[in-house]
Amino acid sequence: MTAPKKLFVKTYGCQMNVYDSERMAETLGGQGYVQTDVAEDADMILLNTCHIREKAAEKVYSELGRLKPLKMANPDLKIGVAGCVAQAEGEEIMRRQPAVDLVVGPQSYHRLPQMEARLRQGKTALDTDFPEEDKFDRLQSRPKAKRAPSAFLTVQEGCDKFCAFCVVPYTRGAETSRPMTRILDEARDLVERGVREITLLGQNVNAYHGAGPDGAEQSLAQLIWALNDIDGLARIRFTTSHPNDMSDDLIEAHGSCKKLMPYLHLPVQSGSDRILKRMNRSHTAESYLRLIERIRAARPDILMSGDFIVGFPEETEADFQATLDLIEAVKYGYAYSFKYSTRPGTPAAERPQVDPDVADERLQRLQALITRQQQQIQTDMVGRSTKVLVEKPGRDPGQMLGKSEYLHAVHIDGSDAAIGDIVPVRITAAKRNSLAAVRQD
Ligand code: SAH
Ligand code: SF4
Ligand code: F3S
Repeated sequence: MTAPKKLFVKTYGCQMNVYDSERMAETLGGQGYVQTDVAEDADMILLNTCHIREKAAEKVYSELGRLKPLKMANPDLKIGVAGCVAQAEGEEIMRRQPAVDLVVGPQSYHRLPQMEARLRQGKTALDTDFPEEDKFDRLQSRPKAKRAPSAFLTVQEGCDKFCAFCVVPYTRGAETSRPMTRILDEARDLVERGVREITLLGQNVNAYHGAGPDGAEQSLAQLIWALNDIDGLARIRFTTSHPNDMSDDLIEAHGSCKKLMPYLHLPVQSGSDRILKRMNRSHTAESYLRLIERIRAARPDILMSGDFIVGFPEETEADFQATLDLIEAVKYGYAYSFKYSTRPGTPAAERPQVDPDVADERLQRLQALITRQQQQIQTDMVGRSTKVLVEKPGRDPGQMLGKSEYLHAVHIDGSDAAIGDIVPVRITAAKRNSLAAVRQD
């Protein structure tokens, strides 16, 4: 018997890449590959890349430079680049780094087996098409291995919004939704393998409009209600949403669907209408705040999370102050904030840029405000009861780690809870990045 070939996958970027990496590893499993955590042992290395900011893209080339010597040590080693850098730069990657044998865009993963066969013939392989067929249908089915209690499931891909700063519509292509029955089959399969919580993924997940069993389009809320009927599935989440696609039925589901968790990631990017317009966001600060009022009316304890870009072209101090005011008004439990990064080919790249030192200073002020809000919310949790989905053992004996309904990381002390259990707890202390709790049965 020949030893199995070893695959090392490194994932950058968003949760959709995490999901895609899992699916690529499963597909290559069909070609006789098993996964390894050690790049030096691998017969194939795949970097699943992100193009969202300049730094993210540059990281890939420095990693490829580090990997190159491994090829001298093992001439049979194959190196592949997948994901959004692969889509954006295509052949250029092989020109810049000749050690690369394979370049595959996010919509062509199902063609990996044929591409791998080419590599074995000593050829290179490049595929950055946007094929008509659904890659998820054609990816090889997974082995029935046990899974961690929380899993991602991509339901929607691509984006038609064309925010002026963003590469996603170019790297992931037009917005498409997977049919509902496929998603429900995949969800049931995950639950059979131990999954208790599913996070539905999409670049614009709340724009979901996949075909239902009778062919009629279904909304994300309708999909969530269908998932709600799966026995054994305890928690449903979704990310990332666009404010303009927060439909009434989805807001209503936050109030009435017990399995839908009280956490919503709803990026706003800026609090200045002038900048939002230039960003092509098609919402205003005011309409965003009204929307959050409606969501909180449906689910008063919902924890809000968001994304912000500071130093977008032509952003003034007054524009930035409007963003701080919006943050003050919303009170975020989590937020991801970024300094604007120029992406060639996007409209904002052509606009007058903000001084990088000014942008740095604004980012620090914004992050300080978010940290204060986040800590206040965590402190306010002390003494409250919540439920934790147990994910893994903690550092101390008898300690287990998991996530609250609000997605806070929680340590449960002195607990005999098992992985996958959902246990009622009382929060006893707020640490920097997590909460401490005791069981409350
Ligand atoms: N689809 C999601 C987000 C996709 S990208 C949405 O519409 O909100 C994730 C985040 O990266 C964005 O919300 C934005 O805050 C940030 N981002 C995107 N392009 C960027 C750029 N050119 N510079 C800095 N941050 C960027
Ligand atoms: Fe990018 Fe805007 Fe689409 Fe989000 S909505 S993926 S920020 S273009
Ligand atoms: Fe990055 Fe592509 Fe996701 S650019 S954020 S990996 S969609």
